[in-house]
Order: sequence, then C-alpha cells, then structure tokens
Amino acid sequence: MSFISVNNVWQQYGDQVVLEGLNLSIAEGEFCTLVGASGCGKSTFLRLLLGQEVPSKGSILLDGQPLAREPDASRGVVFQRYSVFPHLSVLDNVALGLELPRSALLGRLFGKAKRDAREQASVLLHKVGLGHALDKYPTQLSGGMQQRLAIAQALIMKPRVLLLDEPFGALDPGIRKDMHALLLDLWRETQLTVFMVTHDLSEGFNLGTRLMVFDKVRHDPHAPGAYGARITYDIPLNSDRRAARAAIESLQTA
Ligand SMILES: Nc1ncnc2c1ncn2[C@@H]1O[C@H](COP(=O)(O)OP(=O)(O)OP(=O)(O)O)[C@@H](O)[C@H]1O
Ligand SMILES: [Mg+2]
Repeated sequence: MSFISVNNVWQQYGDQVVLEGLNLSIAEGEFCTLVGASGCGKSTFLRLLLGQEVPSKGSILLDGQPLAREPDASRGVVFQRYSVFPHLSVLDNVALGLELPRSALLGRLFGKAKRDAREQASVLLHKVGLGHALDKYPTQLSGGMQQRLAIAQALIMKPRVLLLDEPFGALDPGIRKDMHALLLDLWRETQLTVFMVTHDLSEGFNLGTRLMVFDKVRHDPHAPGAYGARITYDIPLNSDRRAARAAIESLQTA
C-alpha cells in the first residue's frame, strides 16, 4: 500500500476547474518536487494535501485513511512568505507548536513540560543553524534565517509530510544553496515525505527524488474554466537524473 494515494482528484472553484483527474501513489520518504506555470494549481494541490481544502471529486488517502478534515500534526507546512509570529522570540516561535495543543487542555504549560518544550525547540534550532539566535525576534533575522525558523517551526511537530510552497523563492542564490543542503540533511535524517513547489526547474531536479510537472493540456477558448491542470510528467530522478533532465530540456526547447 502506498503511503499517500491521490485518486482521481479534481478541484473546482465555481465553474473554474483548476485540477483534473490527478492520480498519484507516493511512497514514504519520497521527495517530490512540483513545477508548472503560474496559476496552474500547485498551491491548490498542497492545500488539498494539507487537508485545508477537500477535493471537489476524488480522494486523498494517507496510510489508507482519508485525510483528517482539519490539518493536523502529521503534516507540516512552510510557505514562501514567512509564517512566524513577530512578537515571539525565535525559541518561543518553535516551542509554541509543542505548547499549544497541550495548553488547550491544561490552560497553560508550566514547569517541566515547558522546559522540555523549550529544550526540544533549542535542539532543533541548533540543527537548523539558529542556535546563536534563540532570543532574537523575527524582525532581527535575515530572510534565510526567517526561513530556517519557519522550517524548524514545521519540523518541531515531527510531521510525516512536509509541504513547502516555494520556500526559497525570496532568497539570494547563495543562501538558497545553504537551505538546500539543510533541507536535504533534515530529509535524510528523518523519514520525511516532502512535497515542494518551486519555480526553479534546476532546484526541482537537484533536490527531488521525483519531479512532477503540472500543465493544462486541454483548452476551450469558449469556456476558459472548463479544463484544469493535470500531472503531465512524473519523473523518477534517482535512477537517471541526467537523462530525465535532458528529456525535459529538449521538450522545453522543442
Ligand atoms: N479559494 C479559491 N477560490 C477561487 N479560485 C481559486 C481559489 N484558490 C485558487 N484559485 C484559483 O485556482 C488557480 C490556481 O491557483 P494556485 O494558487 O493553486 O496556482 P499556483 O500553481 O500555485 O500558481 P503560482 O505558481 O502563481 O503560485 C488560479 O486560477 C486561482 O485563481
Ligand atoms: Mg502557488
């Protein structure tokens, strides 16, 4: 049984079909990179995987079970725009994820539980290279540091699936390279299954174990919303990255 299965998924807003007939089978630990033209539905697909939206048709199963109606701790998410809380320190931004679910029951987390949460947050922040910035506030961090913080915030919940929506799009090339190395380290260390949207094809090729191309192949000029995007290429990258890249590049120049 696959870890995640996407079964004939359609997503439609009003009379605009955005995604049509998506079928995928994803093994645990895969690193899927998603590319496609702007507006073709990549972020929509991530929202479906997150459980933030329910598909108009079809189903998404995780471990054979339908996704929970609400996003839960099994799926973490990092957006291009920083999602950190500006009024909390770096350490508190990450510890908060552990504190919130419990504080709903306990009123407030105190004593040992709070120290444990902060200790775990600190260990993770050291791992992502923010060990020296625990007491800083997000506005005092560079873009790359804020993005590390957002990744730590997502990982503290030990998600099984990490959803990344163009997480590095706003970063300088040098910092982006550091972030790639960090992400690959974290991915190798855990059994994380990753879905990452990127506009940068080479990022998609270099990071992924599998590259998916979203494209709208059918158009009706009289009914612009009638057709949505499909996954037109689904390319395994482990076996022969170079051949796959050459194939795609030849398509682009054709
Ligand atoms: N909640 C919504 N209601 C109506 N239309 C929506 C909604 N969410 C997305 N859309 C439409 O769905 C289409 C796909 O949007 P989406 O944001 O998923 O594209 P994308 O591939 O992520 O684009 P980009 O690369 O620019 O981020 C767009 O036409 C958008 O206007
Ligand atoms: Mg998007």
